Amino acid sequence: MSKFYENGEGKETVLQQITAKVPAGSIVTLVGPSGSGKSTILSLCNLLITPDGGRVIVEGKEVRDWNVHELRRHVGLAFQMGTMLPGTVKDNLLLAARLHQLETEATERIMQYVGLSEGMLARQADELSGGQKQRVALARTLVNRPSILLLDEVTSALDPAAARGIEELIIKIHNDRQNTILWVTHDLEQAKRVGDFTWLLAEGRLVEQADTASFFSQPKEPFTRRFLKGELSEEAAR
Ligand SMILES: Nc1ncnc2c1ncn2[C@@H]1O[C@H](COP(=O)(O)OP(=O)(O)O)[C@@H](O)[C@H]1O
Ligand SMILES: [Mg+2]
Repeated sequence: MSKFYENGEGKETVLQQITAKVPAGSIVTLVGPSGSGKSTILSLCNLLITPDGGRVIVEGKEVRDWNVHELRRHVGLAFQMGTMLPGTVKDNLLLAARLHQLETEATERIMQYVGLSEGMLARQADELSGGQKQRVALARTLVNRPSILLLDEVTSALDPAAARGIEELIIKIHNDRQNTILWVTHDLEQAKRVGDFTWLLAEGRLVEQADTASFFSQPKEPFTRRFLKGELSEEAAR
């Protein structure tokens, strides 16, 4: 699959002939320098954008053949900051459910599941801490019982303790629901801890894909070795 964007001078290739598969029920961690196209891959999986070449197949069906609402119930997306909508925590949880006219699990049960108290349902969502917002964001996604989760840097804005809490919550969700997860992270230790498979993206190309243990212990590509040493990471670029 490929993706281009128009810029002033013409077409810029953002993803170049990516061929990869996330095995059902597994966690794939997606790493790569800033601007390499990681978020673009996620956006293609739930029709925020469409591919310009090739196909993106979700649960056996090409994304453009899915009804977009139905697709987004199957494919949940959570971002870096746990972006909250105006209103209370409960409003945030119910909005997704109302939009999709779904039967929802009781909000109380979901709150408990993500480690938040029921009393918090009445709080204004924008007053929560970063970690609490991210829990609400995950709860909001779970309302739809998605079989696939797309996670974009969901812990990168949090302090280490809150980040670890969210990581553990996601692993609990995965263990309980056996869902398939494509998890973008710049935290290589996290990628190593949580991944079954790891992909490295650089300048729109999939440089290496391997089971996570091999990816970190025996990377095949010289580029991957340099990336893992930190020579090409976002941190090094700063
Ligand atoms: N809507 C857009 N229009 C034009 N270019 C974009 C758009 N979204 C992303 N890009 C470009 O695509 C490239 C990949 O971006 P992105 O997928 O966000 O990378 P990453 O998530 O790995 O940091 C970047 O060069 C970015 O500037
Ligand atoms: Mg990104």
